[in-house]
Amino acid sequence: MGGAADGGKAKPGGLGPRGRGLFSRLFDGLRGAAPARREAATIAIASGKGGTGKSFLASSLAVLLHQKGLRTAIVDCDFGMACDHLLLGVKPTVTLQHLLAGQATLDQTLIATPVGPRLLPGASGVRRLATPSDKELLVFARELGALSAREDVLLLDCGAGIGSATVLTMLAADHVVLVTQPEIAALVDAYAMVKSLAHLRKDAECLVVVNRVLQPGRGELAFQRLTEVARQHVGVKLHYLGELPDDVSVMQHRLGQLPLVATDPQAPMSRTLATVAERLRQHGGGLVARDVAAEAGVEARFRQHRLFL
Ligand SMILES: Nc1ncnc2c1ncn2[C@@H]1O[C@H](COP(=O)(O)OP(=O)(O)OP(=O)(O)O)[C@@H](O)[C@H]1O
Ligand SMILES: [Mg+2]
Repeated sequence: MGGAADGGKAKPGGLGPRGRGLFSRLFDGLRGAAPARREAATIAIASGKGGTGKSFLASSLAVLLHQKGLRTAIVDCDFGMACDHLLLGVKPTVTLQHLLAGQATLDQTLIATPVGPRLLPGASGVRRLATPSDKELLVFARELGALSAREDVLLLDCGAGIGSATVLTMLAADHVVLVTQPEIAALVDAYAMVKSLAHLRKDAECLVVVNRVLQPGRGELAFQRLTEVARQHVGVKLHYLGELPDDVSVMQHRLGQLPLVATDPQAPMSRTLATVAERLRQHGGGLVARDVAAEAGVEARFRQHRLFL
C-alpha cells in the first residue's frame, strides 16, 4: 500500500494514500493478472442421494484415465466418510485431516496407488470434518490448486447431498458428473442437486451417469425425464454420459481388492466404464492440463464461490 514512506500525508495536488492505493490496484489490473500456469481439468463426481456409486465410478475413471496416459489424481472429498483408499488398494496413515490441520504437506498426504492414479485420501469416521471450517475450506482450496498444477486430471469424489464443501467443490470444478440411479427417489434428489447448482451458477452444466440399471435403455429413459424437468424449471444443460448395469461383480468386490477395470478390463462392466470414460474425455476436450490465469484457476474459483454460499 502507498503512503508508508511519507507517513501517510498527502502532497499538495497529489494523491493521498488511499488514492494511490486505488491507482496501484487499477494499474495492477491493467498490467495484467498473475501469469498463467498449467492446471489440470477438474471433475467433481457428485450425487443427490447417497450410495449411487460415485466412489465406484470415480475410482474406475481414475484408473481408466491413467491408462490413457493422463496424469491422474483422485481426491476423496467425502469429508469425514472417505472410502476411495479401500477401492484403490491402499492404507493411508496420513489423510486430508492432517493436511487441513497443517500437520502434513501435500507430498506427505498424496499416495501412489498400485493401479496408477495418485490418491489424496480422506479421513474416515471423523464427524468434525463432515462440516469443515472456513479455514479448512481455504486450505483445501489452496491444496487443490497446488495439486492441479501437477496433474492432467483431478477427480473430486464428493460426499452425497448439498453440504457446503460439496457444493463449493462442484462450483469450482471444470465439469460436474452427477451419478444417479433410475429410481424416482434418486432422480428427485438428482434434480434437487441440479436446482441448487443452477441457483448458484447461471451457466451450470452437468454430465449424467445413470448407475445400477436393471434393463438396458432404462438409464437413458431416466436421463430424459431428468433433463426435461431440468430444462423446464431451471434451465440447466445436462449431457448424457451413459448407463452402468446393476452388476453383482461390483457388490462382491472385497475390501482391499483392486478395481475391476484394472483386474479384468474385458469384463462387461469394465468395457462399459471405458465407454463412459472416453465420452467424458471427449466432452472435456481430451482432459489435458491447460494454461489458466491464476485468478481463474480452481483455487480462485473455490475461494470466490465461498463468498456467496
Ligand atoms: N453398478 C453397480 N452394481 C452393483 N453394485 C453397485 C454398482 N455401483 C455401486 N454399487 C455398490 O453400491 C454401493 C455404494 O457404492 P459407492 O460407495 O460407490 O456409492 P457412493 O455414491 O460413493 O456412496 P456415498 O454417497 O456413501 O459416498 C457399494 O456397495 C457398491 O459396491
Ligand atoms: Mg462415496
